[in-house]
Amino acid sequence: MKRRIFIHKLALSLSAIAGLIAGISFLRQFYPPSFVRKKKIKIGDPNLYPVDTYTYLDKYDLYIYRDYESVRAVSAVCTHLGCILEKTTEGFECPCHGSKYNDRGEVLSGPAPTDLKWYMLQKANDGRLVVDMSRIVDAEYRYSIG
Ligand code: FES
Repeated sequence: MKRRIFIHKLALSLSAIAGLIAGISFLRQFYPPSFVRKKKIKIGDPNLYPVDTYTYLDKYDLYIYRDYESVRAVSAVCTHLGCILEKTTEGFECPCHGSKYNDRGEVLSGPAPTDLKWYMLQKANDGRLVVDMSRIVDAEYRYSIG
């Protein structure tokens, strides 16, 4: 009888732990890692970034895109459960569950629930570029460096 009670309690405990893990995973989609990170990030001289290229900044989970006249900053964090996106020729792809985004950060296929965030850029007093992660902009936004 004691053995049966032990097994019953063990099964209940394992179910509770599994439920807790599932709950945390579910809630993480509303609080991606970038939510708790620094809000203003100095990314340096725009000329450090190669032209017509997305450069991944792993410290901040951002992609910086630069062309001849402007710079843009987009989150590299998948809006599903927060995995880091890989750049593809079509846009971005999540290695965890396969979500795809186009170059504008728009979801092409799920399970990602929302588009990627683009962030405002500004110049700091020391001349370096700053990504302001508290200010979301649309995908058309560009910071002119011309
Ligand atoms: S975390 Fe990207 S698709 Fe699930």
